[in-house]
Amino acid sequence: MDVSTTPAAGLLSTSWHWFVFAGTLISLLLIFWLLYANRKTSDNKTTGHVWDGIEELDTPLPMWWSGMFILSIIFSLFYLLFYGGLGNFGGILNWSSTGEHDQQQIAHEQRFAPMYAELAALDLEAMQANPVAMQVGRRLFINNCSTCHGVSAQGTFGYPNLTDDEWIWGRSLSAITTSIEQGRTGVMPAWGPALGDDGVTNVSHHVLRLAGQPHDVEKADAGQGQYQTICVSCHGVEGKGNPVLGAPDLTNNIWLYGGSLEEISFTVRNGRTGNMPPHEALLGKDKVRLLAAYIESLSQ
Ligand code: HEC
Ligand code: HEC
Repeated sequence: MDVSTTPAAGLLSTSWHWFVFAGTLISLLLIFWLLYANRKTSDNKTTGHVWDGIEELDTPLPMWWSGMFILSIIFSLFYLLFYGGLGNFGGILNWSSTGEHDQQQIAHEQRFAPMYAELAALDLEAMQANPVAMQVGRRLFINNCSTCHGVSAQGTFGYPNLTDDEWIWGRSLSAITTSIEQGRTGVMPAWGPALGDDGVTNVSHHVLRLAGQPHDVEKADAGQGQYQTICVSCHGVEGKGNPVLGAPDLTNNIWLYGGSLEEISFTVRNGRTGNMPPHEALLGKDKVRLLAAYIESLSQ
C-alpha cells in the first residue's frame, strides 16, 4: 500500500474526506432549495388540482416553522465551522469527544498519581493496614477485574476464586503481581486421544480419590498408573500441583472447572486453557501493587 495515501488513525482517506465534505454541504444546499422551491408562489388559495370536486389547498408553511428551519441551517453551518464534521476538517476549535475524554483522563491520572505512588510505596503489611489503600485496591478491582473474577472476587467457572486458599500461580506478593502485570495462561493438554474413554474415566476416578471425594476404587487403581506416567510432570506425585506451570492442586477439592466425575473427565479428555490477560500497560506499577496487596488480603 502506498504510504502517502494511507490516512492517519481516525482520519478518512482523501477521497472519502472530499466525498463527506462535498456531500454534507450539497445536502444542506438541497434542503435549503427544497424549502425555497416550495414556498408559496401565488395568492391562489388552491394549487389548481381538483379530484371529484375536492380542491387541493395551497396553504403556506407557517412562518415560524420556515424561520426555525432556516435558523437550523444557519446554525449547522456555524457548528460545522467550529466543531468540524466536514470529513477530516476538525473545526476551528478542534474539539472532539475522544480528545476531551483523553484530556480528562490525563488530568485525572495526574491528580491521583501521587496518591497511588504514596500508598504503593508502603510495605505489604502497612498497605493492608491502611484503609484508604484497601479502598483504592477494591475500587481498582471492581473497575478492572470484576468482569471476570466477580465483584466479591469469588470467581466463577473458569475464573479462579481469589479469596480462597488455592493459588494456582502462587500466593506471594510477587507471584500475584506477576499474575496481574504479565497475565497467565494455564494450558492443560487434552488427554482423550492418549488415554481412550476407559483411560479418561479411570484417571478421573483417581483424581476424585486425590481430592478425597467418593470414587470407584477399582477404576481409581486402574487410573493411578496412567496418572503416574502422564500427569505427575505437572500436577506432582501427590497431586499438589505446580505454581510454575499453573497446574492446580488436585487434592483440595477446589475446582476451576468443576469437581464432578463428568466435569473432571471433560477436562482430562478435552483439556482446558485459562487465560488471564496482562494489565501492566493498562494500570502501571503503582496500581498493580495496590491491587496485589488488596487481593492478598482477601484470602487471609
Ligand atoms: C503439561 C502439564 C499438564 C499435564 C501433563 C497435565 N495437566 Fe492437568 N492441568 C494443567 C494446567 C496448567 C491446568 C490448569 C488449566 C487452566 O488453568 O485452564 C490443569 C488443570 C487440570 C484439571 C482441572 C482442575 C480444576 O481446578 O478444575 C484437572 C482435573 C487436571 N488438570 C487433571 C489432569 C490429569 C488427570 C492429567 C493426566 C492425565 C493432567 N491433568 C495432566 C497442566 C497439566
Ligand atoms: C478476561 C478475564 C480476566 C480479567 C479481566 C482478569 N482476570 Fe485474573 N484471571 C483470569 C483467569 C482466566 C485466570 C486463571 C488463569 C489460569 O487458568 O491459570 C486468572 C488468574 C488470576 C490470578 C492468579 C490466581 C491464582 O490462583 O494464582 C490473579 C492474582 C488474578 N487473576 C488477578 C486479577 C486482577 C487483579 C485483575 C484485574 C486487574 C484480573 N485478574 C483481571 C481472568 C481474568
